[in-house]
Amino acid sequence: MFKILVLYYSTYGHVETMAQAVAGGAAGVPGATVVVKRVPELMSEEVARNVGAKLDQQAPIATVSELKEYDAIIFGTPTRFGNMAAQMRNFLDQAGGLWAQNALVGKVGSAFVSTGTGAGNETTLSSFHTTLFHCGMTVVGVPYTVAALRNLDGARGGSPLGAGTLAGPDGRRQPSPAELEIAAAQGAHVAQVTRELALGRQALGDALS
Ligand SMILES: Cc1cc2nc3c(=O)[nH]c(=O)nc-3n(C[C@H](O)[C@H](O)[C@H](O)COP(=O)(O)O)c2cc1C
Repeated sequence: MFKILVLYYSTYGHVETMAQAVAGGAAGVPGATVVVKRVPELMSEEVARNVGAKLDQQAPIATVSELKEYDAIIFGTPTRFGNMAAQMRNFLDQAGGLWAQNALVGKVGSAFVSTGTGAGNETTLSSFHTTLFHCGMTVVGVPYTVAALRNLDGARGGSPLGAGTLAGPDGRRQPSPAELEIAAAQGAHVAQVTRELALGRQALGDALS
C-alpha cells in the first residue's frame, strides 16, 4: 500500500546496522513495503581498504531518480564534523531535478545518524532536515512515547530528531540495544505516519470523486 526507502551511507558499518533496525521497525506496520539501499561510495576501493571501510555491504546502490517512487525516505549517515557525510551530500546534490519537478513534495522524510563521540549528533540531523524541508518533505523524528529516549542508563545516541549510535572514538563500539530500539521505533513511527497520510489521501480522493 505504501513504499518506504531506507537510504544510507556507512563507512564502517554502524549506520548499516542501524538501517536494518530502522527497516525492521518500518516493516512491522501493515501495508508497508520496505527497501534498504545505499548511496554510492566516493572513495576509491584502495582508499576505502586503507581506512578499514566495511566493503561487504549487501544493500544495493540507489539511483537518484528512484527517490520519487517512494512514499517515505529514511536517510542514514555518519557524521562528518557535525554534518552528513560527503557521499550522502553528493547523492542529494544530484536531486536538483527532482526538486525542480516538486517530485518529493509531501513525501515523508526522516534521518538517523552515527557519531564517534556524540559530537554532531543533533547538528547532523537538523542540517539534514533542512535539505528535506527544501524538497517539500514532511519531516518526522522520534516521539518521546519511545521509552528508550527517556532512559539515561549508560551513554547512547538518539534524540527526538532521529535515532543515533555512538561508534566510539576508535569506532569499536557497536549499536546498543537501546539505540537499535530507538532506530526500530523511528522506522515504525515513520511508517505509521506514512500509512495515515496514504489512508487520508485515499479517503479524501474518494470523498471528492
Ligand atoms: C572526517 C571525519 C569526520 C568525523 N567527524 C565526527 C564528528 O564531528 N563527531 C563525531 O562524533 N564523530 C565524527 N567522526 C566519526 C564518524 O562519525 C564515525 O566513524 C561514524 O559515525 C561511524 O559510522 P559508520 O560505521 O556507519 O561509518 C568523523 C569521522 C571522519 C572520518
